[in-house]
Amino acid sequence: MARARKPREPKEPEPAELGPSDSIRVRRMHRRDINRVWEFLKLVFRSVNKETVEYQRPRSKQRFEEQYDDEGIEQLVFEVGSEIVGYAECAFEVTGSDNWINPRYFANREMRPLFVEELATHPDYQGRGVGSFMLEQLQHLARVRGCTHLVLEVAENNPSALSFYRKRNFYKLDAAIFMAQKVEQEPELLPPRPLKPSPDNDPAADSTPDKTSGQG
Ligand SMILES: CC(C)(COP(=O)(O)OP(=O)(O)OC[C@H]1O[C@@H](n2cnc3c(N)ncnc32)[C@H](O)[C@@H]1OP(=O)(O)O)[C@@H](O)C(=O)NCCC(=O)NCCS
Repeated sequence: MARARKPREPKEPEPAELGPSDSIRVRRMHRRDINRVWEFLKLVFRSVNKETVEYQRPRSKQRFEEQYDDEGIEQLVFEVGSEIVGYAECAFEVTGSDNWINPRYFANREMRPLFVEELATHPDYQGRGVGSFMLEQLQHLARVRGCTHLVLEVAENNPSALSFYRKRNFYKLDAAIFMAQKVEQEPELLPPRPLKPSPDNDPAADSTPDKTSGQG
């Protein structure tokens, strides 16, 4: 079912409307921010992507652009002055056909999740409370929209994000874990094989009597 489009864009803020440079301000993402936020996400996830077996974040520019028109997705930009220092994205329903989430899991447990699709702080601002503020904003959204849980996916080998979430009372769901087993290495192609001597050069073949001679 097609969803309604998001409301029209607000006008660009005047410099005086930008917040002070010592506080973090949150606003909804505008269409004109799409390219900037996309580049921001590529920067934030560059080092995370090197270590994770899961899909690379951010996922696809086309999908990112399409999400802007989806009413069920909130895309929030966090700024210090005019600089983007954080981005948070959440969805009120399972989105995309390639999603790992089974909605029945939550329905069976009477959970109404707010799916946190992205949480990213600029590397220069990590450890300064941006992530905590973004999470508080998402918890606030969950409360006012009647959601019972925040649900997200984090790679086990992203220790800083994992400890960030654990410290804030996130717990592991019964999700799949990636496993691997080492396989003994063998070449696919067989080793060289000694060639039989050619029958033309085989002296034994010449001395063999003709079995048909002298008969009949
Ligand atoms: C996970 C992430 C969103 C946290 O954002 P943040 O702005 O650093 O969060 P905060 O500053 O509120 O808290 C970070 C915690 O790390 C600690 N910290 C200390 N030094 C730090 C540093 N140099 N960098 C990061 N965190 C640091 C902070 O003290 C704080 O500790 P606490 O959990 O005890 O409060 C951020 O690290 C990030 O964007 N990581 C890369 C993208 C990513 O992995 N996202 C999650 C994908 S699911």
